[in-house]
Amino acid sequence: MLYSLARPFLFSLAPERAHDLTLSLLKSSYKLRLMRQNIEPKPVTCMGIQFPNPVGLAAGLDKNGAYIDALASLGFGFIEIGTITPRPQAGNPQPRLFRLPKANAIINRMGFNNDGVDKLIENVKASQYKGILGINIGKNADTAVEDAVSDYLICLEKVYNYASYITLNISSPNTKNLRSLQSGHALTELLETVKKRQLELAEEFQHYVPLVLKVAPDLTETDIDFIASQLLEFKIDGLIVTNTTLSREGVEELPFGDEAGGLSGAPVFEKSTQCLAAFSKLLKDQIPLIGVGGILQGEQAATKQQAGAQLIQLYSGLIYTGPKLIKDCVDSLN
Ligand code: FNR
Repeated sequence: MLYSLARPFLFSLAPERAHDLTLSLLKSSYKLRLMRQNIEPKPVTCMGIQFPNPVGLAAGLDKNGAYIDALASLGFGFIEIGTITPRPQAGNPQPRLFRLPKANAIINRMGFNNDGVDKLIENVKASQYKGILGINIGKNADTAVEDAVSDYLICLEKVYNYASYITLNISSPNTKNLRSLQSGHALTELLETVKKRQLELAEEFQHYVPLVLKVAPDLTETDIDFIASQLLEFKIDGLIVTNTTLSREGVEELPFGDEAGGLSGAPVFEKSTQCLAAFSKLLKDQIPLIGVGGILQGEQAATKQQAGAQLIQLYSGLIYTGPKLIKDCVDSLN
């Protein structure tokens, strides 16, 4: 209700300005105790973790973990922060975020703008949140893709003790060649090395933190088969399906439809859900799936669940519909 009143004003601002303003207003409202959405518990156990409800915040909205408490007050069952990189970086030049309201879509080429992993940890330590926290990690833009594994290891080691689960993001289209880590020897090397370190850290901290992979929707059947086989081989704990798409199907003719970057929101729903169903066929009952991409209504969350997702995540739908989408999704899920 409140969001539908605020939306015309927010949409009159440049998208990145609206994003920053919304987060700081949310934080102030949280501090003044003006904001709280109560959601009926709908517990689900996944990856050995008990989630209060299956609806989470997708990565990218709170890259530095600076708004965890405020976001948690909206009733999410879990929150994923990041993508974070070892060193701070500015990301791509602005403008890099575009609204396509006619399609309920967003195009972004943010490029992992973030304050670096040390700052994220400071923010996590300062938060009051005791719920499920995913930390999504990536590589710096100036780290050669051949050296990517070392960036993932740095982040993994630093965040290990602060995360409920850790996501390896190898699917952003806005870091050059990042998506090449989704195939061939690069994927094998990444999963093998990171898994080995995860097990060592589990021993060291006497606490196992699940490792999750996040993939793009722009995968061929062969890519999907290969990724699934590697997830099984290296006993990866979960899979997030999907990140944004490079496709422009359905938005070519719209203002900003030809901007470079990843497309999210309504136009990615079909593709992302098909990808989820394909992974589910190969991984059913072996590796839990988290469905994300294009959810703008509760029924679409249910469709992701029918396609094999145990948990779902939201991003663009929140921009178009507001926080009531969280409740709609929880209510629609089994
Ligand atoms: C994203 N997404 C994203 N994903 C990720 O793993 N790391 C990131 O840093 C970001 N950053 C980011 C910024 C912006 C502006 C958007 C819109 C999206 C992808 C996001 O988490 C999600 O996977 C996709 O957007 C698809 O879901 P929706 O948005 O269609 O619900």
